[in-house]
Order: sequence, then C-alpha cells, then structure tokens
Amino acid sequence: MTLPGAPWLHRRGRTLYLEDVALDALARTHGTPLYVYSRAAMRDAARRYERALAGRSHLLCYAMKANSNLAVLQTLAAEGCGFDIVSAGELERVLAAGAPASRVVFSGVGKTRAEMVRALQAGVRCFNVESLAELDRLDDVARALGTRAPVSVRVNPDVDARTHPYISTGLRDNKFGVVHDEALAVYRRAAELPGIDVRGIDCHIGSQITELAPYLDALDRVLDLVEAVEAEGIALHHLDLGGGLGITYTDEQPPAADALVRALLERIDARGHGARELLLEPGRSIVGNAGVLLTEVQYLKPGAHKNFCIVDAAMNDLVRPAMYEAWMGIVPCVERDGTPSVWDVVGPVCESGDWLGRDRALAVAPGDVLAVLSAGAYGMVMASNYNTRARAAEVMVDAGRAHVVRDRETTTQLFAGEHLLPD
Ligand code: LLP
Repeated sequence: MTLPGAPWLHRRGRTLYLEDVALDALARTHGTPLYVYSRAAMRDAARRYERALAGRSHLLCYAMKANSNLAVLQTLAAEGCGFDIVSAGELERVLAAGAPASRVVFSGVGKTRAEMVRALQAGVRCFNVESLAELDRLDDVARALGTRAPVSVRVNPDVDARTHPYISTGLRDNKFGVVHDEALAVYRRAAELPGIDVRGIDCHIGSQITELAPYLDALDRVLDLVEAVEAEGIALHHLDLGGGLGITYTDEQPPAADALVRALLERIDARGHGARELLLEPGRSIVGNAGVLLTEVQYLKPGAHKNFCIVDAAMNDLVRPAMYEAWMGIVPCVERDGTPSVWDVVGPVCESGDWLGRDRALAVAPGDVLAVLSAGAYGMVMASNYNTRARAAEVMVDAGRAHVVRDRETTTQLFAGEHLLPD
C-alpha cells in the first residue's frame, strides 16, 4: 500500500519512518500522543505551487489555520510564502516566526476593532473583507489611525465545492463572503470610503476539494465580477482564489497542486486577465500529508459486537474524526505477526464520539505505537484541553534529525490562570 505522505513516510522492513527517523523510537523518546512533521514534505508541497506559479506575479499565502506551529511558519516563510490569517493571534505568530506583515492577508467574518488596529499598524498586505458592516468599521478604524486599509472583497460565488457541509464555505447559505449579487454595490461603497484602498478580489469555496470543476466555476464567477467592477472605473490589482485543495486520506485523487494552478492560469489567460497578481491560500495541501499523530495502545477490549482498541490520543488531540466523521489512516509503527482483527480505535475521553477510526483491521497489542496519518493539517491546531488533558508535543524531522518544536503541555500549565475564591 502506498502511504499518504510517501516518499517521506515509508516502511523499511516492518518499521515506519518519516524521512530517516523511525517513528516508534521517536514515540519512546518523546512520549505519546506526539505530532511529528516532515520539513522536507512541507517544503516540497510549497515548491510544487511555487514552480507552477513561476514567472507570474503571485504570492502563495499559506493558510496557517491548518498548522500554525512557529517552526512550520519559519519553514514556509523561508520558501517565500506569505500567510493567510484569521485572527490577531495568528498575526503575532507570523511576526514571531520572523516573517513580514507585508506578506499577510487577513480573512475572517468577525474581525474586531482591536484586530484591525493591530493589523493596520503591523502593515498587512490586504484585508479580505466579508461584509458591508466590516467595510464600514475598517474605514472608521483606518481613518482614526490616519491611514488607508488595503482591501479585497471576499465574494461568495455560490458554487458547490462538493465537500463536507462543515467545510464548504462558498455556498449562498454559508456565513462567508459577500453574496455575488451584492458584491458590486460593496465595491462602489468601498471606492467612496476615504479610509479604504481597494486592491483586489477574493474568494474561497471550501476545503478538501478533490475536483477542478468547482474551482473553475468559482473563477469564472469572480472574473465576471472583476469585469463589472472595473467597468465602473474601480481597479483591481490582484485575484485571491483562496485555498481548499484536498489531499489523499484514503482513496481520494485530488488534482496535483501544479495541475490546479495550470488550469487556473489557463482560464485566467483565456479571459484576458493574465497580468493580474495571483494570490492563493492553500493550507491542508501544504501540511496535511507532512504529519502524523503517534499514539500508544493502552488496552484491548474485545466484545461480542465491537472490539475496542483504546489508545492514549483522543478527540481533544485530533478532533477531525469526531467532528466531521473524517476517515484518517491508522497503521502500526512496527508491524507485528498475527492475523488482524477489526477494531474501533478510541481515546480515553468520556464521550462516545471520541474515536479516531472505526472498523480498522489491525494486528495490535498493548504498548504498540500507532500512527494516525495525514494529521499535519487541522490536527494540533484544533486540539483542546477537554477532560483536563494536556496537549501533545510536536516534533519536526529535518535532515535526519528530530527537533522538538513544541513542548508537551504540563498539567500545572492547564490551570495556571485559574483562581480559588478568597474564603
Ligand atoms: N482560506 C480561507 C479563507 C479559509 O477559510 C480556509 C480554510 C483556507 C484558506 C484553507 O483551506 P485549505 O487549503 O486548508 O483547505 N478544520 C477543517 C477544515 C476547515 C477549513 C476552513 N477554511 C478540517 O479539518 O477539515
């Protein structure tokens, strides 16, 4: 079987490796649950986009919500990436990783005044504005600071990305963006506001998209709007087409990043928009298959109806299966002899929804280390402290060496900010 994450993730004999590091040994050294990433895999994914965009005016803005560890940001900044952020907290991470705010675009439906002030002072490249009310607030904040806010309007193209409803964002019923029919009016208003500097147009239709067609449909809708906006004398410097490219978790076959970019560029050129700067905001497709979550089997609980394999990672460490019924591969770090049985792989959290995989054929024993695959995106970033569980450590493998890039949380850290009442 080809592992998602190959060639960085591979077997030598029975043992699973990420780059040149044996994962079972890494788990024994650093403990579990443990997130492990391959720096080479992330670099390669970013370079695939960069190569396809070469020769074009562009900026690849990594959607850091997918994985915002500072070492990940540092790695991608060194590749020339910018960042798509959705909070002031993410902006502070970009700056802490040593990347400039001038490479940052700020998305999200609920930007607060304080976040706008911080982003304007830092000098972000563009605000992706998602409503008329936000536009007015941004104008107000920018004027108070004596500046002008660079803006794209995020358009909701009403295109079905044919993905899970929770991660679909470009439909009329989603909270995101300005509906297509109203976008022209928002641009007219933006052009009149003294604190707003119209720079571009933006859209994002969803995540884990595995087909080209929804992208091209959305692009056509966006270009229609570009033409309508420019016909009114409002210039648009860049096109931001969002992120959303899917990865292989099981048998999905999404287009490769370069095939996606080529198809987009072809359509852009065919419609005579080739000179415009192109921004993309990929998240999952940069980091998803670059990471795994390691977890140790605690107990086996065979039953008449179900067999449970109880591991030490839970929904608080990796919520995707519980939240989206997402299927993620689970394999042993060292394969053992014996006939596999069918197990539900579950965590220790007190919820029936706390599972990582259902009906998985595995030959396992307590003490074995399992790897949950394709866990580099929307894994650690969505972790919580439910059940007062400390969050996992993170390790980055780079050129044969394993670096701890985030310490395991300690229990005392978890309630350090809490206070007993005075009596
Ligand atoms: N840009 C915007 C405005 C977004 O909202 C998103 C993701 C991205 C870019 C990056 O999309 P990507 O390339 O990673 O698909 N937690 C969910 C995914 C939520 C995605 C939300 N928006 C999951 O685990 O599947």
